[in-house]
Parts: sequence; C-alpha cells; structure tokens
Amino acid sequence: MIKVGRTRTSARHGTERDAIVTTHSQTITPCSANRFAELAEHDLAAQLDPDALPRHVAVIMDGNGRWASQRHLPRMAGHKEGLTALREILHTCYHLEIPLVTIYAFSQENWSRPQAEIDLLMSLLEEFLHRERRTFHERRMRFLPIGRVDTLPLSVRDLVRAIARDTAHFTDRTVTVALSYGGRADILDAVNRLIKDVQDGAVSGPVSEARFESYLATAALPDPDLLIRTSGEVRVSNFLLWQIAYTELYFTETLWPDFRQRELLLALLDYQKRERRFGRLSHAVSLHSRL
Ligand code: FPP
Repeated sequence: MIKVGRTRTSARHGTERDAIVTTHSQTITPCSANRFAELAEHDLAAQLDPDALPRHVAVIMDGNGRWASQRHLPRMAGHKEGLTALREILHTCYHLEIPLVTIYAFSQENWSRPQAEIDLLMSLLEEFLHRERRTFHERRMRFLPIGRVDTLPLSVRDLVRAIARDTAHFTDRTVTVALSYGGRADILDAVNRLIKDVQDGAVSGPVSEARFESYLATAALPDPDLLIRTSGEVRVSNFLLWQIAYTELYFTETLWPDFRQRELLLALLDYQKRERRFGRLSHAVSLHSRL
C-alpha cells in the first residue's frame, strides 16, 4: 500500500488514498526522466500534493498497435492490454479523488481502420461497459458519452445510452468517453444548434464564450486541467479542441498499454511543477485573489 500526499484533509481521504495499490515497475521514459524517475511508486505518491491535483484529466490513449507489434502480437492484443491499462488508470484516478476523467476511446477518423479492428474495438467497448456498469453505480460516477454516438453499432449504442441515462444523476464524478468523436465536429454541431436557437428566437447575439460552451458536448464539464498523450506523438488529433485552450499538455514515450499507475503519478507530479498563468503575468496569479 502507498500513501499519497504530504497532508491529510480528512480521515476519509486518508482511507481512500491508502487504497491505491502498488503495481510492477515501468520503464522510465525520457519525459519522466527527472528527479522523480528513480523513486519507487509509493514514494512518488507521497510526493503528490493532494490539494493541487488536477480536477479534470483528459487522456489520448495511443500506442496499442506498436505495443503489440513490438511483441510480435496482433494489434488486437495491444487493444486488449490497452483496456487493462484504462481500467487501472480509472481505478487510480478514483482513489486519488480526481473527479473528472475524459478518455478518447474512438475518434471519427478511427472509422477508416480495417473493419476487423473496428469490430474488435467495439466489442472491447461493449466489454468495458458491461464490466464497469456496476462500478459506475458503486462509485456513484456519471458515464458521459460524447461524439456521434448514433453512428455506433446498435448494441453498443443502446448500452452507451442506457448507462448514460442510468448514471446521469451522479454529479460528483464523471467518466467521459469520446466515441466517434472529433473536436471540429463538436464545434460545428454546437454552431449549428446555436444558429437554430437564434433563428427560433431562443437566443440572441452577441454570443459569449460561456453561452457557446453550453452548446458543446462537454457543456456540463469544466475544461481539462491536464491532457496526457502516450506513445511519443506530440499532437492533439482533433480532441477537445475548444476545451484545451489552457490545458497543461503532457506527452510521454510510454505506449498506452504500459501507461499504468506509476506513469500516471509521474504525469501528475510533472503537472504539479507547472505554474498555470492562464495568459496572465506570473505575479498576477498570486495577487489575483487579493485584487
Ligand atoms: C490507439 O492505439 C488507441 C485507440 C485507437 C483506441 C483506444 C482503445 C483502447 C485503449 C482499448 C479499448 C478501450 C475502449 C474503451 C474501446 P493505436 O491502435 O492507434 O496504436 P498505434 O498508433 O501504435 O498503431
């Protein structure tokens, strides 16, 4: 068992954070080659400031195929291991009390993959949803699908909608899953809905950022504080384009199936080293609350 953080704000926090389990050690990537790189997992967790954790973590899970080909396995094996990594990361975020996690599970562009791979990804999604459905209820987590859900195969679509409906009343924690998602399409859909509301007389201009955001698929969520992308690719690939305007970006060489608890802790420690200025001057941030 490992403990997270230098302080404890309540006995409840302590109990939950102590529940994080130690997993096997991972290869240290160039991105995490810093003063934390040599630390054991429980020591990494102890370095975290529990009061400065990101509230919303978004993840681009990339590198399943390369993980498989490095092992001379079919791509499918990489996706299956990727699902295991996903479950571990969601588990860790829960115990760290990170309330909002958004994952890029299937992009609009992924439809151009071979049909056999699409079918496997859909069946893994179905497996994930069947397995996690109970967990969502036990942990009082909302499951929020974003993207063109109506383009998913019928059985997956029905399951996605049923779980979203059954968990919609949970407000403290949300797992958002981007499915058949594209950031540009999200913005365009918002624009078109807004135009319709203007034409119907329900909305009049000028339109503020806050008003516009209420038309996005993520309307209920604050913007991500941290976006993680695995596998060494340094781009955002049409994910949450509007929402990541001030998000801290973290790129690691680690392939998604290897991105486990230790890698997440390194990403969180890296995040905690950063100063978020939101376009202001450094000293203005500290003065902000007094002005
Ligand atoms: C990218 O790997 C990953 C995806 C296309 C989808 C992510 C899927 C999972 C993590 C497993 C299934 C989970 C759900 C919820 C469906 P890639 O195939 O692009 O890897 P590569 O760039 O190395 O080829």
